[in-house]
Amino acid sequence: MTHQQPLFILAPMDEVTDTVFRQIIASTAKPDLFFTEFVNVDGLNSPGREKLLPKLRFTASEQPLIAQVWGKKPENFYLFCQQVADGSLAKELGLPAGVNFAGVDLNMGCPAKSEVQNGTCAALIKPENRELALAIIRASREGLAASPTPLPLSVKTRLGFSDVDFTWHKALLSEKLNMLTIHGRTRKQMSKVPADWSLIGEVVKLRDSLSPATKIVGNGDVMSKDQGRQLAEQYGLDGIMIGRGIFSDPFVFADASPWEAMTRQERIALYTRHVQLYQQTWGDSYRPVRVLNKFCKVYINGFDGAKELREQLMAATSTAQLLSLLDQTKQSA
Ligand SMILES: Cc1cc2nc3c(=O)[nH]c(=O)nc-3n(C[C@H](O)[C@H](O)[C@H](O)COP(=O)(O)O)c2cc1C
Repeated sequence: MTHQQPLFILAPMDEVTDTVFRQIIASTAKPDLFFTEFVNVDGLNSPGREKLLPKLRFTASEQPLIAQVWGKKPENFYLFCQQVADGSLAKELGLPAGVNFAGVDLNMGCPAKSEVQNGTCAALIKPENRELALAIIRASREGLAASPTPLPLSVKTRLGFSDVDFTWHKALLSEKLNMLTIHGRTRKQMSKVPADWSLIGEVVKLRDSLSPATKIVGNGDVMSKDQGRQLAEQYGLDGIMIGRGIFSDPFVFADASPWEAMTRQERIALYTRHVQLYQQTWGDSYRPVRVLNKFCKVYINGFDGAKELREQLMAATSTAQLLSLLDQTKQSA
């Protein structure tokens, strides 16, 4: 299959792609699709729900948005998907009528030790957990059917657990998912070797014979839209997901990114907007300020004195302090 234009997607990144960062990216150069950070469905169905809900918060500008979840119990996936499909979750999040998630994605690829030891995320790739993985997919699908037009279901996963394992992708494709995102590494490889796009291409071939309607999205090491387009064409992909590429170019989803030519003032202004929006949205109590400080690496670079400014910003202990430092720097320009 050849495609004119692949879907460009901002990857889910925990403690990065919250509503604030997504709003900033919606205003710089918007991708075709956003994902939330991953959220634990078992936690959502526990007294800890209130604490997790902020990870699902969004505004109308971040649409279309896919809610990404992980967990262990199929019944909790069912409940979550039902609450997405009937609009009750969007209502609980305070969204106006008519604004809802565009679908649900199941995280079956996160390699973190704690998740894997718990039998979740990338552990679901292992053959011994296949029945559970399929039960999770079916329960989610059933929950999503609560909407008059069933919402799409997708999975984000890797090439295998210890080794490349196409039996996994065949099993996933047999479930007729709406979309399947492949990060071109195994769990064992973590992020230590380059993503293997030719193996992602093999999944495309499996899709062609097993489930032609499933969109295949490739992910791993894409740093520009042009590179993404080339890969999509070479391997017949429907979509390209970009994660860390956004750290070196907040306009990575633009056809022609202006970032390289942007001035010190413009870069400082963009970070200031991020910090202000963060302050309005979360205040200082939601997450440690270090989660916000570290974004300075995205914006504060490529000009004289950037390193020194980053060092000061990284040491700030409140949003107010960050804003004051940015303001002083602006004044001294
Ligand atoms: C800080 C960080 C947090 C991440 N959190 C998630 C997550 O919540 N869900 C998920 O599916 N993948 C997560 N990932 C993986 C990315 O979505 C993506 O698959 C990976 O970074 C490879 O793509 P890239 O090379 O374009 O960054 C995370 C990656 C990073 C760097």
